[in-house]
Amino acid sequence: MKQQLETIRLEALQALDAVKDAAELDALRVRFLGKKGELTAVLKSMGKLSAEERPVMGQIANNVRAAIEEKIESTRAALSARALEVRLKAEAIDVTIPGEPVQLGHRHPMNKALDEAKDIFISMGFKVLEGPEVELADYNFTRLNIAENHPSRDRSDTFYVTDDESVLLRTQTSPMQIRAMEQIKTPPIRVLAPGRVYRKDEVDATHSPMFHQIEGLVIDKGITMADLKGTLETLIKAMYGPDSVIRFRPHHFPFTEPSCEVDVQCFKCRGVGCPTCKGEGWIELLGAGMVHPVVLENCGIDPNVYSGFAFGIGLERMAMRRFKISDMRMIFENDIRFLSQF
Ligand code: PHE
Repeated sequence: MKQQLETIRLEALQALDAVKDAAELDALRVRFLGKKGELTAVLKSMGKLSAEERPVMGQIANNVRAAIEEKIESTRAALSARALEVRLKAEAIDVTIPGEPVQLGHRHPMNKALDEAKDIFISMGFKVLEGPEVELADYNFTRLNIAENHPSRDRSDTFYVTDDESVLLRTQTSPMQIRAMEQIKTPPIRVLAPGRVYRKDEVDATHSPMFHQIEGLVIDKGITMADLKGTLETLIKAMYGPDSVIRFRPHHFPFTEPSCEVDVQCFKCRGVGCPTCKGEGWIELLGAGMVHPVVLENCGIDPNVYSGFAFGIGLERMAMRRFKISDMRMIFENDIRFLSQF
């Protein structure tokens, strides 16, 4: 029996040395130590031994069991250590490899020009308002003193949203004058309202069916054309430099009286005349004037007490002049090669 036990010990330890995975290990444990295992079989036959032999063999059998158990444990530990090592190798991340560079965008030149203009007006005490692009004809035309038969109301000029022509895509930001007066009610009013406007224009170097305007409105006691001129001079010089040249030309708008247009000297030719300014030497930048008394009355403000000025700046033209862009189409085409220059 002693020989039998030693053979089991030898075989078990050898087999365990060659184990490759947990399943094999478990099979060996069952084979040697299980209920029907080899060692158990030997122990069961101990009853046949004499009383003197029994404790001696029992001692040896216990030693064999302990040796096999110990070997199983150490093999198990070695297996799991090896498995961990394999996993760590497979999942290794080299934190020293340089990452993929992230391409950072930047603000569109139109937003840059708008932010600059906003800053300048905010420093003069203006409040920024926003309003709907889908507008009532009543706000876009009627309450701005634009007659029922005015050509700008024509379907060939204006995108109407409803067949009865009561709702439209605003053709100008001037309806924000009405909304500002409705909202603030009692002057002083000093607001800036930038946003998109829509007209049925063909696309060319200076036209687009969608473009942006910045509306300005100031109403208080004793406001005159001099305040308008000073405000716009401040804007132009802050934006384009102290030596920029602007001119005021008489004009007509139904909602201002008197009205004017303001041009800035062409940045390309400095007033000589070139394709960018269509040979004029000047680029039209905005329309403006003193708010018409009828418009004030339409909004419940007494024109005998208050007066005001309003202006509407073409933001594309301002950005074009600011960044020396000669074709408006570039602004909307989103060509990265163009946009990344600003
Ligand atoms: N709304 C006018 C336009 O689109 C510009 C303007 C605004 C004129 C305010 C006078 C006062 O041409």
